[in-house]
Order: sequence, then structure tokens, then C-alpha cells
Amino acid sequence: MFRVNENYQKLPGSYLFSRIAGKVNAFLQANPDQKVIRLGIGDVTQPLAPAIIDALHRAVDEMACAETFRGYAPDLGYEFLRSAIVENDYRARGCDISVDEIFISDGAKSDSANIQELFADCSRIAVCDPVYPVYVDSNVMAGRTGTYDAASEVWSDVIYMPCTMENGFVPEFPRETPDIIYLCLPNNPTGTTITKEQLQGWVDYAIKSGAVIIYDAAYEAYISEENVAHSIYECEGAKTCAIELRSFSKNAGFTGVRLGCTVVPKELRCGDVSLNAMWARRHGTKFNGAPYIVQRAGEAVYSEEGKAQLKEQVAYYMRNAAVIRDGLKEAGYTVFGGVNAPYIWMKTPEKMSSWDFFDYLLEKANVVGTPGSGFGPCGEGYFRLTAFGSYENTQEALERIRKSGC
Ligand SMILES: Cc1ncc(COP(=O)(O)O)c(C=O)c1O
Repeated sequence: MFRVNENYQKLPGSYLFSRIAGKVNAFLQANPDQKVIRLGIGDVTQPLAPAIIDALHRAVDEMACAETFRGYAPDLGYEFLRSAIVENDYRARGCDISVDEIFISDGAKSDSANIQELFADCSRIAVCDPVYPVYVDSNVMAGRTGTYDAASEVWSDVIYMPCTMENGFVPEFPRETPDIIYLCLPNNPTGTTITKEQLQGWVDYAIKSGAVIIYDAAYEAYISEENVAHSIYECEGAKTCAIELRSFSKNAGFTGVRLGCTVVPKELRCGDVSLNAMWARRHGTKFNGAPYIVQRAGEAVYSEEGKAQLKEQVAYYMRNAAVIRDGLKEAGYTVFGGVNAPYIWMKTPEKMSSWDFFDYLLEKANVVGTPGSGFGPCGEGYFRLTAFGSYENTQEALERIRKSGC
């Protein structure tokens, strides 16, 4: 008789965004004439930039001729894309990363879920609370998180680093020593970030405590302030203790196209074992490469045209972020984020729970956001709005929130 991976049975209830979709669908069934504005899920809305579309068309045409047709891509990615990443994301920032430390993937979600395979079952993970749920859930599936307490919504074997208004949403070094530390900066969901000096502190801490940092840089393109690192490798020693995840989803609109990369430096070792070699082995065994046409589109992200067009796209979303941030502040809310990230994290009014505020906003303003409690217990009493909508919808949403007297 076959048996299932029982760790899956430990995963609590429905996924956050399914519950949101269920509530929105029920509302629309009851109120078919209402126009709901969705500022909940972190999906982009702007079309792909012209430079990327051109690259896709060219690559599709290549697939139509025997001479230029491409089959399986190299497991670790095409050299043209890996070199563009090295030059633009790393060397241009003074980071000494080489092509054979870059692994092309289909996005940061799968990489952030898969990377835990490299580590021993008994590894203790440390995560921020609130957190992007994939880091915890992928470790639950691997059986690394102990037992779940439904009342407190915490796992017995996970080290939580609370990020609250009191500490400016900046995690503090945990009291217990972790083996794997997940950091996402700029942060989803809080939209906040830390200075380069603070990040250096984390690198020093990881080296001292023998931990590895999984650094999710999915929102790096939204950094607008000086003195915020765009890569963890801007910090001294990071190549010996950090793996970096990057995504083309939010900087270039590839949420539906799918492309990402992971950087595993050769200096990152556990005794004699190279994590770079392990990840190469894993990729070779379990992944057959991102599509050629998508990798060509990724290359176009780094062309001069592509860079200029994407700068405008990021600016478009950040204009929305300013509309949300300023609008909510004017309406009297306590608001965070939205300066170095496309997320605005707000305190719910009058001590409302996150889900009560979700219902309230949906009913009164027909605006959908994401309840902070869906990202962890410390998210309770907070609410996330995204800047990824259209400018017009974002303006209208804020107008409605103001008028609804929420
Ligand atoms: C922190 C974080 N990492 C990774 C991802 C997923 O990125 P991708 O689309 O590249 O899989 C997201 C998507 O919302 C995210 O918020």
C-alpha cells in the first residue's frame, strides 16, 4: 500500500489567496453590478516592454528554421543571459560574481521552495514574521518544521523573527541559533527594507553562527534610496554565507512569462562540500532549463532600450505606491513601505483584525487588499495593498477608501 508524504497533511487550511478569491467571488455574486478594484495579489498589470516583445518575436522566428531552432536549453541557462546578469546585476555594482555561479530558473517561487533541499533535514530555519509563505511551507513539506499550533499559528521548530511597528519591521538576530535564515529585502509583505550596514550585520552574524542566508531579492528594482544594497554580495563575506534569489517578475513583468535566477557562490561551502556543485547537480537532475525564447526575452531586459523602458515601468508602479501611501496618510492611516517596494503595509483602523478590515474594505469601498495575518501572526492588525494596479484604478481605489470613511 502506498503512503503519502504526511508532512503535507500538516499544512494548515486554505492558501491565503484562495480564501481571498473565494470571498471576492461571493461578494460579486451577491453584488454583480459592483466594480471591484484588486490591490491584493502581487501580480503586475502593465504589458511587457517593447524591447522584450521584440526579443520574443525574434526568438520565436528562430524556432521556425532548422538552422536556428533550439531544443533543450542548457540546464544552468544560456551563457548570453548568465553573462548579462553578471555584468549588469553584479559587476556594475562591484560584486565579484561569475557566470558559473548563476543558475537560470523559471522564477523565484520555485527556487525559494526548492533551495531547502540542499540542507540537512534537522536544519533549523529562521524566518521573518510576517513572511512570504513559500519559505515556511516548503520546509513543512520537507518535514523540517515540527508541529503546528493552530491557536498561535506557529511551528514548534521554526525560529520566528518578529517584524513589527516597534522594531520598524527590521528583524533582530534570533536568540536561538538558526542554520538557514530567510531574508527578503525589500520585503514582501511589509514593503520595508534595511540599510547596507544593517545587511552587513546579518552577513557577519551568519558567518559567526555558521548559518546560510537565503536572500530573496525579488523586489530589488524598486529600491529608490541610497545606502540600500541591491544585492547581498555588496556586503563583505557574503559569498561565503549567502545564496541570492532573483526574479524577472516584478522588475520586467515576467509573472506569466516565468524567469528567475539563483546565485550560489563557489566560496559557499560546508566543509569540503560545494553548494554550487550541489545546486548544479540538482538543476541537472530535476530541471530541463527555462525556454530559449524566454531567456532571449530576459537578455533584452539588460539592453539599453530594455533598461530605459523598464525604468519607466517601475516608476509607473512607484507612482501608484505614492498615491496609496500619501492617500492613506491623508485619510489618517498609519502607513509603511511604498518607498523601496511596490507594497504598502498599513495598520488596520481601530484595532480591527486583518480579515475584518478585508471584509470592511470590500463591502464599503469594493477594494481588495491582503490581510496581514495571512503572512504570519505578527501580521495581524495590518493590511497590504499593492502598487501593481493601473494608475487609474489605484487613484479610484484611494478615492473610494477616503469616501467610505474606513
Ligand atoms: C518575496 C517573493 N519571492 C518570490 C516571488 C515569486 O517570484 P516569481 O514570480 O519569480 O516566481 C514573489 C512573488 O510574489 C515574492 O513576493
